[in-house]
Amino acid sequence: MMSVMTEKESIKEVIKERYGSHALKAQQTAQSCCGPTTITDCGCGCGATPDQYAKGIGYTQEELTNLPDTAITAAAGCGNPTAIAGLKEGEVVLDLGSGGGIDVFLSAQKVGPNGKAIGVDMTDEMLDLARKNAKELGIENVEFRKGDIEELPVEDESVDVIISNCVINLAPDKDKVFREAYRVLKPGGRLTVSDIVTKNELPQHIKDNLDLWAGCVSGAIPAEQYMGKLRDAGFKEVKEIASRGFGAVYSAEIEAHKPL
Ligand SMILES: C[S@@+](CC[C@H](N)C(=O)[O-])C[C@H]1O[C@@H](n2cnc3c(N)ncnc32)[C@H](O)[C@@H]1O
Repeated sequence: MMSVMTEKESIKEVIKERYGSHALKAQQTAQSCCGPTTITDCGCGCGATPDQYAKGIGYTQEELTNLPDTAITAAAGCGNPTAIAGLKEGEVVLDLGSGGGIDVFLSAQKVGPNGKAIGVDMTDEMLDLARKNAKELGIENVEFRKGDIEELPVEDESVDVIISNCVINLAPDKDKVFREAYRVLKPGGRLTVSDIVTKNELPQHIKDNLDLWAGCVSGAIPAEQYMGKLRDAGFKEVKEIASRGFGAVYSAEIEAHKPL
């Protein structure tokens, strides 16, 4: 039996490998990320073009028109947290697991030049792609930092809004992620995430499948447990504000607030 530490580290290694190759593929082809393997990356709509997939999870044509193609092709989310986060001019936004940067760019446009959007990701290829996309867009109020969302490279109480799109389910230690999110938010700050959750506890043989973990299935936990962990970290007014899909594993938009 693997030690807990080794197990967590191997999960992260598989995720880095999977999303490193997803970032490279996004730059080589404008095709859907659905490949010959049986298990796809998170956010891959088999049979759909990247644009069709992005619209299916809540991005508008207007939002997509202003983005580099590779930001859309690399998108691997399960919602559009920037559409529901109520972002305001001048705010500082932090995106946990920013991938190719899609939500960082949309946030940066919404908060304007007096605000800022910061993306954190642990996969080098995704960070390279996001920085290339930022250059192509000529956008200056964005920053991409390398790091683990379980140990955020972000100062205490420095962020107004945390967003995340289909990432926290991938983290082996969600309590740590939520404690870190709470630490970096300013008092009165908010968190709005799109993520994969479940109706019930998944069977152990699914939880143990690393491929399915990297595909945003095995690390998903029941929505009630997810919200309970947010409350344990100190968040208030925690609620599921929308959901997509009706299966045992589905995508939800969850909101939480750090009290003043
Ligand atoms: C499913 S993709 C979503 C990317 C992006 N949010 C989007 O909507 O396109 C997951 C991303 O989270 C990153 N990631 C997964 N676990 C992470 C962790 N523990 N710390 C930092 N980044 C992580 C991966 O490298 C990958 O870029």
